[in-house]
Amino acid sequence: MSKPIYITTAIDYANGLPHLGHAYEKVLADVIARSSRMMGKAVYFLTGLDEHGQKVQQTAASQGLEPQALCDSMAQAFQDLCRRLSISHDDFIRTTQERHKAVVRAVSQKLFDAGLIYKAEYQGFYSPRAEQFLQEKDRVDGQWPEIFGEVVEVCEVNYFLKISLYQDWLLDYIQAHPDCIFPHFRAKQVLEFLKEPIKDLCISRPKSRLAWGIPLPFDEDFVSYVWVDALINYISAIGYGKAEFLKLWPADVQVIGKDILIPAHAVYWTILLKMLDLPLPKCILVHGWWLASGDKMSKSKGNVVDPLRLIDAFPSDAFRYFLMREMHVGQDSNFSYDLLLARYHSELANDLGNLLSRLLHMLHSYTEGLVPPATQLEAIDTQLRHTWEALVPKVFEAYQGFDFSGALEAVFGFLKELNRYAEQKAPWKLAKSEDPVATESLHSTLASMAEGLRLCAVLLGPVMPQVAATIQTLLGILPATQFEGMLTWSSMLEGKRVGEKTILFPRIEKSANAV
Ligand code: MSP
Repeated sequence: MSKPIYITTAIDYANGLPHLGHAYEKVLADVIARSSRMMGKAVYFLTGLDEHGQKVQQTAASQGLEPQALCDSMAQAFQDLCRRLSISHDDFIRTTQERHKAVVRAVSQKLFDAGLIYKAEYQGFYSPRAEQFLQEKDRVDGQWPEIFGEVVEVCEVNYFLKISLYQDWLLDYIQAHPDCIFPHFRAKQVLEFLKEPIKDLCISRPKSRLAWGIPLPFDEDFVSYVWVDALINYISAIGYGKAEFLKLWPADVQVIGKDILIPAHAVYWTILLKMLDLPLPKCILVHGWWLASGDKMSKSKGNVVDPLRLIDAFPSDAFRYFLMREMHVGQDSNFSYDLLLARYHSELANDLGNLLSRLLHMLHSYTEGLVPPATQLEAIDTQLRHTWEALVPKVFEAYQGFDFSGALEAVFGFLKELNRYAEQKAPWKLAKSEDPVATESLHSTLASMAEGLRLCAVLLGPVMPQVAATIQTLLGILPATQFEGMLTWSSMLEGKRVGEKTILFPRIEKSANAV
C-alpha cells in the first residue's frame, strides 16, 4: 500500500486565544485532508500548539499563571476550536509533551555530534516579539518594522547551527523542484532571499533569560530556540527515530501562512531536514493573510476577528464555506462580516438551502415522499446532465490544484443552473395537470433536481461535511465517503424515501456586535 498523505499545519502560539487566521489555516488543511480521503487516499493529518518561548513565558507571568497552566488552557481552547470547526485531524501535538521534548533533545545532540553546532558570542539586535535576532538589513527606511515590536541590543554567548554551509544546496534544490513551494511566486521570493548570504542560526537561549524551553542536552544552561523546537513537531509527532516514522515522512503538504515561510520554513526547516539526512516535504503550501479593513489583524490594533463568535452566529459549515470561497489560496483577503452575511443568504440559504427545501416539500406533496423515476427526458434534462458531466473534471482539477474557491464557484454555478431548470420546468404547474405526459414530466423533473442536489452534496463534502451528509441523508441515502462512483449522474435515488422539509440555513439577522 502506498504511503498515506501526510498533511500538517503550523502550530499556533499558546500565548493568545485562536483568531480567524488560525481557524482558516485549519479549515484549509482539513479541506485538503478530506478531499484527499474522498479521492481514495489514506491521510494522516497533524495540527497542534507551540507552547515554549518568551512570549508564552511573558504572557503567563502577566496573568499570574505558571506557563504550563496557560498552555493547558490554550490547548483546550484550540482543541475546542478544532472540534467546532469539524477539523478531522489525526493528532494534536503540544510541544510541552514528553514525546516532543525527547525528539528535540535527540535532534540537537545529533547535530552537535555531527559538528554542525558551535558556541560563539553574539552582539546585536534582538526582537522579543518575533523571538529572533535581527540584522541591519531587516530595517525598513532605517526603522525596525512593526512586526518586530520593541527591538533591544543584546550581547550573549549562544549556540549556532551552521546553516550557511547549505545555502548553495538550498538554492539548487528549490530551482530543481519548482513545485516544492506553492504558489510558485513564493518560491521565487525564497530564491530572491537566498541571493544574499545567510547567517548561521542561533539555536539557543540562555536559561538565565528564558527558562520556558527545552534544555539542550549538551549544555543544560541553555534552552532550544523556540523556532527550532517548534519546527521539530512535524517529525516528533510521527515518531522520529522509530521505525514507524518513515511510514509517513516526508510530509506531502505542509500548510503555513506567508509570514512564516522566510526564513523559518524555507530556510531553517529545509536545511535542518537536510542535516538530518531526511527528504524534504513535497509541498509547502503558503496561504495569505486575512486582513481587517486592509490591515493585518493584531491584538494591539484591536481588530482581531474571533472565529468562535462567528460560529456561534453561523453554522460552522457556513463559516467553512465562506473561508474557502472568499480567499484564493495564496492571496490575502479582506474579512468582511457583511460579505459573510451576503454569501450566507444568497448562496447557501437561497441557491442551496431553498432548492432542497422546495424539493422535499414537492416530493411530499406530489409523490408521497418517494423519489420518482426519470422516464421522460427532454432536451432541457439532457442539457442539465451534460452541464454536470462537464463540471466534474473541472472541480476535480480545482481541488487538486488547491483552488478551493474555484471549485466552490463551479459547484454553485451548477446549483444556479439547477434553480433555473426548476423554474423553467415548473413542477408545481405540471402537478396541477391530469395529463399522464405532464405527470411523467413532473416525475422526471423532481428526479433530476434530487440527483443534481445529491451530486453537488458529494462534491461539497470536503468543505461542508455536515451539510453534505445532511443533504444525502435527507435524500434517503448514506453519505458518500469517496468520490469514486458517486459523481456520475445516476438513478440511485429512485424509490428512496426522503426526509421532512428542512431549513439548512436559517435566516440570520445582521448583528452589530457579531465580530
Ligand atoms: N508558532 C508559530 C508557527 C510554528 S510552525 C512550526 C506561529 N504561530 S502563530 O500563532 O503566530 O501563527 C500560526 C499560523 O497562523 C501561521 O501559519 C500564520 O501565518 C497563521 N496566521 C496568523 N495570522 C493570520 C492571518 N491574519 N491570516 C491568515 N493566517 C495567519 O507563527
